[in-house]
Amino acid sequence: MPRAVVFDAYATLFDVQGLSKVCEAIYPGRGATFAELWRRKQLEYTWLLSLMGQYQDFWTVTRMALHHSCKALVLPLSADHQAQLLESYLALEPYPEVPPVLRRLSGRFPLAILSNGTEEMLSKLLHHNRLEGYFSQILSVESVKTYKPHPKAYDLAVRAFFASPAEIVFVSSNGWDVAGAKASGFRVAWCNRTGAAPETHAPEPDWMVGSLEELESLLP
Ligand code: 2OP
Repeated sequence: MPRAVVFDAYATLFDVQGLSKVCEAIYPGRGATFAELWRRKQLEYTWLLSLMGQYQDFWTVTRMALHHSCKALVLPLSADHQAQLLESYLALEPYPEVPPVLRRLSGRFPLAILSNGTEEMLSKLLHHNRLEGYFSQILSVESVKTYKPHPKAYDLAVRAFFASPAEIVFVSSNGWDVAGAKASGFRVAWCNRTGAAPETHAPEPDWMVGSLEELESLLP
């Protein structure tokens, strides 16, 4: 029996594709390209900062990636649009199956979030969607000042539940995060909604599912 089920936040519980709509309203015809570059740079900066032994919190990284994306695509960024784009991170929608699956799973296991997001970003996002009640722990890498997939980030879940990594099920939709958690010894489920190709630099996940509903039926 798992001692806890721990979820990644962005793209796993919350649909970051929703950002495309906000980007499209501001940059007509460029929304999808802009949102894709913004998210890619945001993640790249987290990895680069961690490799450099440095840390800027995820809100700052998200803003830096936004500035890069505007420069790269030669698009203007007013103060109002910056605020609107950044704040959309605090009001992302969960995938449709997420609230009912969390409700049912929370009756079976302690649930947690382990995310690159800051404590403030995560608490506002959960509050906005009224999902905070399902989690016994909200773990932000802010407390270790390094990003996933650094083992120190995953160790937060081990310490929070006084469990070994093999007693924790970690769930992510991000292939790099799945690989990182597997490398740290967790039992891992890849919620691969987009049918992304497998990552080849770490052991395979224990489960590959297309939705969280599918995962729910596989858990003991
Ligand atoms: C997370 O929530 C960034 O999706 C990643 O940690």
